[in-house]
Amino acid sequence: MLQACANVASVSAKKRIAVIPGDGIGKEVIPQAVKVIQAAGAAVEMTSFDWGADRYLADEVTVPPDGFATLARDFDAVLVGAFGDPRVPSNIHAREILLGMRSQMDLYANVRPVRLLDASLCPLKGIEPKDLDFVVIRENTEGVYGDLGGVFKQGTPDEVAIQEDINTRKGVERIIRYAFEYCANNKKLDGSPRRRVLMCDKSNAMTHAGGLWQRVFKAIAAEYPQIETQHMYVDALCMQMVHDPRGFDVIVTNNMFGDIITDLAAGLQGGLGMAASGNLRPGHTSMFEPVHGSAPSIAGKNIANPFGAILSAAIMLAHLGMAGEAQKIEAAVLEAVRQKKMTADIGGTLGTSDAGEWVAQKIASH
Ligand code: NAD
Ligand code: IPM
Ligand code: MN
Repeated sequence: MLQACANVASVSAKKRIAVIPGDGIGKEVIPQAVKVIQAAGAAVEMTSFDWGADRYLADEVTVPPDGFATLARDFDAVLVGAFGDPRVPSNIHAREILLGMRSQMDLYANVRPVRLLDASLCPLKGIEPKDLDFVVIRENTEGVYGDLGGVFKQGTPDEVAIQEDINTRKGVERIIRYAFEYCANNKKLDGSPRRRVLMCDKSNAMTHAGGLWQRVFKAIAAEYPQIETQHMYVDALCMQMVHDPRGFDVIVTNNMFGDIITDLAAGLQGGLGMAASGNLRPGHTSMFEPVHGSAPSIAGKNIANPFGAILSAAIMLAHLGMAGEAQKIEAAVLEAVRQKKMTADIGGTLGTSDAGEWVAQKIASH
């Protein structure tokens, strides 16, 4: 996986990718994504980083000094697996690496496409791939993820825990604008235009934050008269997602609601193993990762589904201007699903590495 930059002149045209597999099944699915990137012939130079629980347990380093600055300066993109390990119950390394990367590299737009590759993968009756092609644009740097707050009188009957929900006008404006721009500039898989941005919040209960989101949504929507707007409270949206998800197009929401509804949406796609994402800051080094976590209970068994990681690599290549390579990868994963060359979580019989290998071979044979 690791290739040193031996000759600066010869690699200068290649995109530089930092690869951080992390923990658990991250260490199994990311090598499959790397293999597939190579099979697609993408002009990239990949460098592996050992950030994760093993490293933390060995030397207590979560992110080395200047770690994020190095990623931002020396790499065009970062491909990440997952973080979380039962040996680190505080989860400090995951917070510092993953949430640290999102906030310190200001990767403010978490773009999580929700696509159904085959009708057989969806637990809902009568839903076809053409019915499920929406995207969740999740605010990725604010909300309750800032870890602001505190605990007072810990361990006493009077204990108080406060977790602040941060919503800045700048943060809300840029994510809502990102969603409208995404809607204006991206088509659905079938080539039809995207038409609608739906804002999801809980402004009936969380009035201060919700009020800001509502005002900003209205103001930015006025700049895009060709785009329809819609609003749903997050509870009603969850119901609609399992009742009939066909009407969703572009959904914009805050950090925590975005986290929750994208696991729900992953369920519609066949499970967490299928869901891919990008953590983007336009014009800067961005990060790409499957939506799932480190899944400790299935780690090390060669049964994890690598397609979420592989599809995240495809999103990364498209983002880096390699649309052809990205398309080859997506087509090969689609073919794998059609031919049931896949892992057991989605109804196949292959192990993680064989499923990845099948996709790589499919690409290489074209
Ligand atoms: P999880 O996503 O790891 O697993 C949830 C369920 O989905 C489990 O049943 C798991 O076996 C299954 N699953 C997930 N990915 C799969 C795959 N590729 N193939 C087949 N099955 C898959 O979420 P969790 O159990 O809530 O969290 C486990 C650890 O991962 C925790 O430490 C959590 O904090 C961490 N986590 C990390 C990230 C990340 O780094 N991006 C995301 C979510 C959770
Ligand atoms: C995700 C994960 C993370 C999040 C966790 C691991 C902190 O669930 O990427 O969806 O909540 O953002
Ligand atoms: Mn999540």
